[in-house]
Formats: sequence, structure tokens, C-alpha cells
Amino acid sequence: MSMNANITAFVTGGGSGIGKALSLALSARGMTVCVSDVNLNAAQAVAVACGPRATAIALDVCDAEAVKVSIERFAATNGRLDYIFNNAGIGIAGETSDIPLEAWRRIVDINIYGVLHGVLAAYPMMLKQGYGHIVNTASLAGLGPAPLFTPYALTKHAVVGLSTSLRVEAASRGVRVSVFCPAAIETPLLDSGNPEEFKISSAPDARRFLTALAGPPYSVEKCVKELLEALDKNKSIIVLPARARMAWHLGRWFPALVEMMSRSALANERKAIN
Ligand SMILES: NC(=O)c1ccc[n+]([C@@H]2O[C@H](COP(=O)([O-])OP(=O)(O)OC[C@H]3O[C@@H](n4cnc5c(N)ncnc54)[C@H](O)[C@@H]3O)[C@@H](O)[C@H]2O)c1
Repeated sequence: MSMNANITAFVTGGGSGIGKALSLALSARGMTVCVSDVNLNAAQAVAVACGPRATAIALDVCDAEAVKVSIERFAATNGRLDYIFNNAGIGIAGETSDIPLEAWRRIVDINIYGVLHGVLAAYPMMLKQGYGHIVNTASLAGLGPAPLFTPYALTKHAVVGLSTSLRVEAASRGVRVSVFCPAAIETPLLDSGNPEEFKISSAPDARRFLTALAGPPYSVEKCVKELLEALDKNKSIIVLPARARMAWHLGRWFPALVEMMSRSALANERKAIN
């Protein structure tokens, strides 16, 4: 990614964790960044830390019209839209039999529709420009089994399918599409648990269980640095850190092995919960 003040990036869920680190890293490269988040105070604090070129807005990615208007306004103000990072997301976890339909709807709304709204707003604009890079955040849970995170895995698999398919459609029209699939990354998400209104007694300890499934959480700054390097190379499916990438490749050759390891981690987590 080159140092260029004219380059613009719109980030959703920019107030915390990966979105925050991403906004800071993009700003450090001299880009003009819009830090959007449903939590305006958090977005504002990040934009201040990013420096004078960054702006903050309140944006709930579930609101298709608001997403469209915000992205169009940002592009119009700056004359272009180089990157859209559809990063906002939540986790919902527990035994599938304990998770109410409303919780499934909530995670689909944010993690699938939230990403789709960003894509549908940015893609036509990027087609007109003849360039642009759509970066959707999925997860390693979008590429394989994630027991006790089944609602999350559902949404992240959808984001992978959306992104890899659109990538092929968009390539000959000048627009790049990548999907980011990190393993556990050190952010507040690991400790935030289920949304308060959904009390799911079988919810795992995300930090402990994800560590058992995919290794200890990785530094968010390193993760974002490596993500930006992979985007420079226009990588399609970006799995981080390297050990997770190796596990993913291994799992494609030996899916039964991944299933066996997941079963064993699940059995241990069930014992720890009860
Ligand atoms: N941290 C991890 O281990 C990990 C691993 C794989 C994938 N991811 C994905 O990375 C993305 C960022 O996660 P994070 O770890 O930085 O989490 P985080 O909880 O630290 O940050 C998420 C941000 O999204 C915002 N947000 C939530 N709902 C929103 C909505 N409806 N509209 C707009 N903003 C909303 C929150 O206010 C928060 O600022 C998510 O899509 C997550 O699924 C995270």
C-alpha cells in the first residue's frame, strides 16, 4: 500500500479491535480514513488518534440506506473510494439447541447483511471509477467447523462465499475483492461474550476455547500489518497468523483430522463449562 494522501478508506466497526488498529495503520500510511462505528464515541476517539485527515461517523451496518449514504458522502467529499473494509461483526456462541432464533437473526443482520450493505454501496461506485478494493472480514470460522460458534460460522462462511464469488466477477472490471479470515486476534471481542439480551448458559469461554481450537490470540497490530501486506499483493483469502494458514491448508487435505481435533477441543470445553 503506497503512501498517498489521496487514497481513501472507509472502515466499519472502526471503534475497537481490528477496525481500530486498521484505521490507525491506514492513517499512518497517509490515507484519508472514515472511521465508522455504531458506537460514535469509540469511532471519534479512534479518528482523533488517527490524525487530522480521519473523520468519525456513527453508522449501524444493519441500516442499508445509512451505509449507502455514508459511503457515497465520503467518496463524494474526497473524490474517490479506494478501499472499503466491511469489518464490523459480533459473536454469538453456545450449544445450537440453546440459541433462540432472534439471536440467529441478529448475527445474520450484522455479520452478513452488514457486509452486504457495504458491498452493495461501494461496488457500483468502484465499477464507475474502474478501481477499488473491497475487503470483507470473515474469520477462520468461515473456512471450517467452529462448534459452539455455529451462528458465527454460518455468517462467516457466507462472507467467504460472497467475497470469493464477487472477486471473480469484479476482477475483469478493475475492482479487487479480498476476504480476511483471521484466527483468534487479541481484541475486546474475545471477552465480550454474547449480547446481553441473549443469556445462553452453554456459551463457551471464547478466549479459552478458541485458543484450544486455533492457538493463542495473535497481536492485533501484527495482524493488521500482515493484512495490509497481503492486500498489496491482492490476495484472495487472507488467513492469519501463519500457523492458522498452515492449519487451514492441512484441513483442506485432511478434513477428518480437523474434525477430530475440533471434537476433542469441544469435549474439553463442555467439561469446563459444566
Ligand atoms: N478478534 C478475533 O479473534 C476475530 C477473529 C476472526 C474474525 N474477527 C472478526 O473481525 C471483525 C472485528 O472484530 P474485533 O475482534 O475487532 O471486535 P470488537 O468487538 O473489538 O470490534 C467490533 C466493532 O464493531 C462494532 N459494531 C458492532 N455491531 C455493529 C453494527 N451493527 N454496526 C457498526 N458497528 C458495529 C462495535 O461497536 C465494535 O467497535 C469482526 O467481523 C469479527 O467477527 C475477529
